[in-house]
Amino acid sequence: MGVTPKIAPSMLSSDFANLASEAKRMLDFGADWLHMDIMDGHFVPNLTIGAPVIESLRKHTNAYLDCHLMVTNPIDYVEPMGKAGASGFTFHVEVSKENWQELIGRIKSIGMRPGVALKPGTPIEDVYPLIDSENPVGMVLVMTVEPGFGGQKFMPEMMDKVRALRKKYPSLDIEVDGGLGPSTIEMATSAGANCIVAGSSVFGAPEPAAVISLMRKSVSENQEKY
Ligand code: DX5
Ligand code: ZN
Repeated sequence: MGVTPKIAPSMLSSDFANLASEAKRMLDFGADWLHMDIMDGHFVPNLTIGAPVIESLRKHTNAYLDCHLMVTNPIDYVEPMGKAGASGFTFHVEVSKENWQELIGRIKSIGMRPGVALKPGTPIEDVYPLIDSENPVGMVLVMTVEPGFGGQKFMPEMMDKVRALRKKYPSLDIEVDGGLGPSTIEMATSAGANCIVAGSSVFGAPEPAAVISLMRKSVSENQEKY
């Protein structure tokens, strides 16, 4: 179908003190997107970066900044993130039950692409209304670990969610995040994922470019089957 591979190294695994050069390094290695994990120390038990860091990084790159908002009040972040130069704005469905329509509208009006993420314990049905809406999200992010930290173990049982999504929405961008690398990529891509976030497996590899290209190949080969 019409979906293309997007390999998105998670900058959470980078050297934050050298973010611009780390970003350039990943793009030179073949990354399509840069995945930026925004954590507020409340929705998840970790605190990372926010709009000021996105704004600083934006001055050094034109890359698509795929921002994953692990925050309790995503609506408060829309304007600052948009002004800072974020490209994608993916909020969590668990904290957006009341205002997802308003969120999607505001995200689009400031020029970003909306996405919705769900934690491992959240049923896939919870995101269907956001895709079926007249003003839909462009991407669904299926968490394959509990959000909060890099370097955790991939949860294969989440692939049922990916399969259900791909069956229902052949041309939707489906992103997986957490524990992806050479040993788990095939499970994700054969289920139908096309946007792949990978932190420790890319940054920790002796040859990150080889890991990125292996993952892209896995997406391409599997997408041909849909
Ligand atoms: C976890 C983050 C991920 C994380 C992935 O909450 O959303 O993006 O950086 O890291 P790895 O690939 O190491 O599991
Ligand atoms: Zn993430």
